[in-house]
Amino acid sequence: MVMSCFVGVATVWGAGPEQRGASAAEATNGEQIYQRYCKMCHAMMPPPKIAPPIKGLARHYREAFSEKEAAVDHMVAFMQKPDPAMSKCRPQAVERFGLMPAMTIAENKLRSVSEWVWEQYDPKLRHHHHGEGGAH
Ligand code: HEC
Repeated sequence: MVMSCFVGVATVWGAGPEQRGASAAEATNGEQIYQRYCKMCHAMMPPPKIAPPIKGLARHYREAFSEKEAAVDHMVAFMQKPDPAMSKCRPQAVERFGLMPAMTIAENKLRSVSEWVWEQYDPKLRHHHHGEGGAH
């Protein structure tokens, strides 16, 4: 009687932490998704390495869209199927870095990371395109 009760409790506890552990390891918030899937190409701040920095992307998207919702929709669509015609960066960006490869991660992750990118806008970084003729 006492024994079977203990086994029952042990089974419940055995399943619990394992499930919690798995969901904690998933990258769910925008910044974690960035760290895992985007950081190898996109640095946070200029100077750019192999892709435009996040702060610059945020600025271009703030200039191109007044609504966060529309900007996020556009970023998600772009990442699923990058197309130079859809680029909100200057044409030189695609020429200089090449087109971004399509992202195959879940759409809800692309959405969280796009929302996070939008929030990285920093008004102090308005004039960082040095030595490129000042064209934005
Ligand atoms: C293998 C390198 C690579 C990875 C990984 C990568 N990117 Fe990019 N990304 C690029 C390059 C190169 C460009 C610039 C050319 C272009 O716009 O396609 C770019 C452009 C972009 C743009 C601008 C699109 C536009 O309007 O032109 C956004 C937004 C973006 N990346 C977001 C992300 C996010 C978010 C992730 C992670 C989920 C990510 N990228 C992962 C290389 C990468």
